[in-house]
Amino acid sequence: MSKLKKVYVCQKCGSQKSRWEGKCHDCGSWNSFIEETFSPPPAFHLPIDDFLETHKKNTNPSLISSSPLKSNRLQLHPHSIQKEWNSKRYKTGFLELDRVLGGGMVPGSYILLGGDPGIGKSTLLLQISGFLAQNSNQKILYVSGEESVSQVALRAQRLTIHHPLIEVAAESSLEAIIKIIKATSPKVLIIDSIQTLFLSKISSAPGSILQVRECAGTLMNLAKRLQITVFLIGHVTKDGHLAGPKVLEHMVDTVLSFEGDPNYTYRLLRSLKNRFGPAFELGVFQMDSNGLKDVQNPSEFFLEERNPYSIGSAVFATMEGSRPMLCEIQALNTANHNPMAIPKRTTTGFDIHRLHMINAILDKQLKLNLSLSDVFINIVGGLKVKEPPADLAAASALISSAKNLKINSSTCFFGEIGLTGELRGVSFIIERLREAQKLGFKKFVLPFSNKKHLSSKIIKDLNLKESQFFWIQHIKELPQCFKKLDLV
Ligand code: TYD
Ligand code: MG
Repeated sequence: MSKLKKVYVCQKCGSQKSRWEGKCHDCGSWNSFIEETFSPPPAFHLPIDDFLETHKKNTNPSLISSSPLKSNRLQLHPHSIQKEWNSKRYKTGFLELDRVLGGGMVPGSYILLGGDPGIGKSTLLLQISGFLAQNSNQKILYVSGEESVSQVALRAQRLTIHHPLIEVAAESSLEAIIKIIKATSPKVLIIDSIQTLFLSKISSAPGSILQVRECAGTLMNLAKRLQITVFLIGHVTKDGHLAGPKVLEHMVDTVLSFEGDPNYTYRLLRSLKNRFGPAFELGVFQMDSNGLKDVQNPSEFFLEERNPYSIGSAVFATMEGSRPMLCEIQALNTANHNPMAIPKRTTTGFDIHRLHMINAILDKQLKLNLSLSDVFINIVGGLKVKEPPADLAAASALISSAKNLKINSSTCFFGEIGLTGELRGVSFIIERLREAQKLGFKKFVLPFSNKKHLSSKIIKDLNLKESQFFWIQHIKELPQCFKKLDLV
């Protein structure tokens, strides 16, 4: 019998120590070490190995890397690469998800889907199962460690998903799950969720770092060797990180994060890592009583309720991955009537440090003193804008609110503001302008340095006129620009 080994594992980053420590020197978190015991595996003896031995006999031998010399090698010839990846991608039934994955689902990939409870992870994967079974004729095994078979079936019924190729199992023991895989030979495996799985050889509780890491590792072997696509659902901790060790993120091919404000119906799907496509792509979905739907034109969706006559609102086109998206930045400043209170600076979806900086620049350059006011910045719809090019729109909204000035509602603002008040150029300017033009925006305030990127030909191609552009070099020119916007 192998001896039980005692280790102390940081529950934040998975770092292991032989004795307890108050602070983890790898990730810096305090009080995160928990004692865990496990029996060290006798030289990679995972249950999957037994399974593969028996599975080999009744499976297509080309799927199993029996001869590492042959099947684990590929010449990087353009045709072979094309054949390996592109021809094999499957559509998932959601155009938004296909785009986030880089053009569809790659068979044999290992995908981690993280998100807050109740955001719609199980719903998304159940809907994908329905589509794949229906359209790609793929066998799906949906394993739920959180819900009973009848609960999953009830949800599937509500979403009108039923297909003989979809099998649902309620199980948390990985050994048992491997047996079910052996019996059903699925092409797509969905695990809901990785934090409920356990391997009996590890004595720590399901959800502990060791369990999560070992279970995910075993499943990774399975996915790669049998070319099964595995979707892992992962929970998110209170501070918004994927629960479980960082190693989980290293292990998988793709990390998707499903986000959204429970007060709104839309959901954002972001790729944080993607071995088969660009990272930081964004997909937008809407949740209604019939499940999730693609939102094909998010700019329109996020500007839907915009009031064209409001004061303290400016529009900016942010880049989410390779996609431009229009968003409304609102600002409000109100006098703080209590001389003893420290004025508030509050932002939702906008970097508070950039607000402090913009406040200081407006004070110095435009004598806009907000030191006795509470200042709020809000990105409408719960979006998060982290890009510095949003500075000009935020500053415009602030000036508009402080001076009670109306901004022409068909104007889009772009530009990063430097500490001396100078306006800096914006990347992807053509893509951003194209999106704004598509949504009917007619006037564009831009940094002067972007002028060289926008020749007369490009402006014409964008279906715009030079008179629709307002170039500024310094933030001091902004109030004048507001007046011109209404005159031209
Ligand atoms: P769920 O997929 O269970 O979330 P997760 O797996 O991320 O915890 O989604 C649950 C929420 O979604 C729940 O609040 C109800 C809502 N919902 C709908 O609005 N419409 C639907 O068709 C379904 C299935 C769920
Ligand atoms: Mg769920």
